[in-house]
Amino acid sequence: MSNSEDALPLYGKGQKQQQENHDRMEKRRQEEEQLKERMAQINHKILVLSGKGGVGKSTIAVNIAVGLGMEGKKVGLLDVDFHGPSIPTLLRLGNQTLRTDGKNAFPLDYVYGIKVVSLGLLLPDQDAAVIWRGPLKMGVIRQFLADIQWGELDYLIIDFPPGTGDEPLSVAQMLPESDGAVIVTTPQEMSLADVRKSISFCRQVKVPVLGVVENMSGLNCPHCGKLIELFKTGGGEAMANKLKVPFLGRIPLEPAVVEASDSGRPFIYHCNQTAAAQAFRDGVIKILLALDDR
Ligand SMILES: Nc1ncnc2c1ncn2[C@@H]1O[C@H](COP(=O)(O)OP(=O)(O)OP(=O)(O)O)[C@@H](O)[C@H]1O
Ligand SMILES: [Mg+2]
Repeated sequence: MSNSEDALPLYGKGQKQQQENHDRMEKRRQEEEQLKERMAQINHKILVLSGKGGVGKSTIAVNIAVGLGMEGKKVGLLDVDFHGPSIPTLLRLGNQTLRTDGKNAFPLDYVYGIKVVSLGLLLPDQDAAVIWRGPLKMGVIRQFLADIQWGELDYLIIDFPPGTGDEPLSVAQMLPESDGAVIVTTPQEMSLADVRKSISFCRQVKVPVLGVVENMSGLNCPHCGKLIELFKTGGGEAMANKLKVPFLGRIPLEPAVVEASDSGRPFIYHCNQTAAAQAFRDGVIKILLALDDR
């Protein structure tokens, strides 16, 4: 007699299905437990979001991580921008990869003990294109959070791709206890319109808004020192006031920031005398440090 699935009597098929469902639910329960255990070791989780591309999210995420590290905090930096992971470039991580011991995967250690995880550290080459749909991304995000040995951290900073897609939605669901989102914008209306969507997204998925950073806010002319309002200034602050969310500060446009980012040197450390670094320390970093004193 054949022992193929088709040969099973009907009640047998039902039992097999039941067992499979049970196993699946059990596996899911274990995964949930591991996620909770791992994340319970991290005091603060901060999402860096924006509705718009190219406004400086990754630059800001990197400099938050380094700024907090410089203050003696234990920091993790997670890059979930699978299609354009820029953290390895911004930190000049070259072709280093995540370490594994056969069973566990470990983040890459950066200066100040900052622990870094990015898909960019797992790709065969930096120019490889990642073509993934939502469920696959969600599975990898879960692995990044639950399976990586982050250890004890004061802060985990998470950098996202632009918009309100699968990545921030997955993290919002997996980390309901997150402290909230830092929303990055530039001052002009084109950017503000998208950022309003980010704030509305946060409200819908119940992620608190820690505040808005207005990046690329004016440029001090290197010749005469006069302020040039290239993308205008003040729009981010006005929007934050209108939508009743905190304002974390203005970071001016600074040629040194571009130079520093391109060469993989966080500006908060390498250009610490610039107006951008000062504004960053006095605004964003100060406010995020206060989370740890609560
Ligand atoms: N304050 C600033 N002054 C000058 N250049 C800046 C500033 N902030 C960011 N940049 C530059 O703007 C460019 C885009 O920054 P970044 O990659 O951080 O943006 P992003 O929002 O993460 O982009 P994406 O949406 O593609 O992920 C980079 O070249 C970066 O160096
Ligand atoms: Mg980015």
